[in-house]
Amino acid sequence: MMKLAVFASGSGSNFQAIADAVVENRLDAEVSLLVCDKPDAYVVKRAEALDIPIFCFRPKAYDNKAAFEKEITARLHEAEVDWIVLAGYMRLIGETLLAAFPEHIINIHPSLLPAFPGLDAIGQAWEAGVKVTGVTVHYVDEGMDSGKIIAQEAVAVKPTDSLASLTKAVQAVEHRLYPDTIQSLLKERLSQGGPTYNEHQTSINQRIE
Ligand code: GAR
Repeated sequence: MMKLAVFASGSGSNFQAIADAVVENRLDAEVSLLVCDKPDAYVVKRAEALDIPIFCFRPKAYDNKAAFEKEITARLHEAEVDWIVLAGYMRLIGETLLAAFPEHIINIHPSLLPAFPGLDAIGQAWEAGVKVTGVTVHYVDEGMDSGKIIAQEAVAVKPTDSLASLTKAVQAVEHRLYPDTIQSLLKERLSQGGPTYNEHQTSINQRIE
């Protein structure tokens, strides 16, 4: 069973959608850890209710990003995590985590990237008056909402929409698309017959020894 760590900073509705998909057997994986950079975020309450282990940290308590990412990496290895799933984690991933989990970090963003990266993507699309926006799931690199696209789904902006109704429509797509995309991705990787991230790490360690 592939082990996921979900990283979140806010309400955690996508974290919930992923956890629900696991419980309902729509996603063959385990949510092994919630990583949260905001101890007061509602997502922490969701993880507690689901009995999912939590690693919460205050970035300001560390000298720099490398220092807290080093600690996160240690926690992820301890929990034998295979994939990092960003779900509203409002921070750029640094080189420490990128090097520790190459091609095993994905993100969801509420726009059709490369349009409207960054904060408040739904608000940006609304202000721009686009007729179509949507949701993107992509691999994470050092940039902001950049990296190879894995899946996208469009959401039409209706003449009767308000920002609130558009937000609801985009979020509904996110909650379905993210678990479905993770499931396809894990299946695809397994069918390629490659090692899981943990098997890969173990073989590297054995070669080093
Ligand atoms: C989601 O809409 C997610 O796509 C977005 O943050 C929201 C988190 O909501 N992420 C980004 O904008 C990444 N640049 P949630 O906490 O309810 O899952």
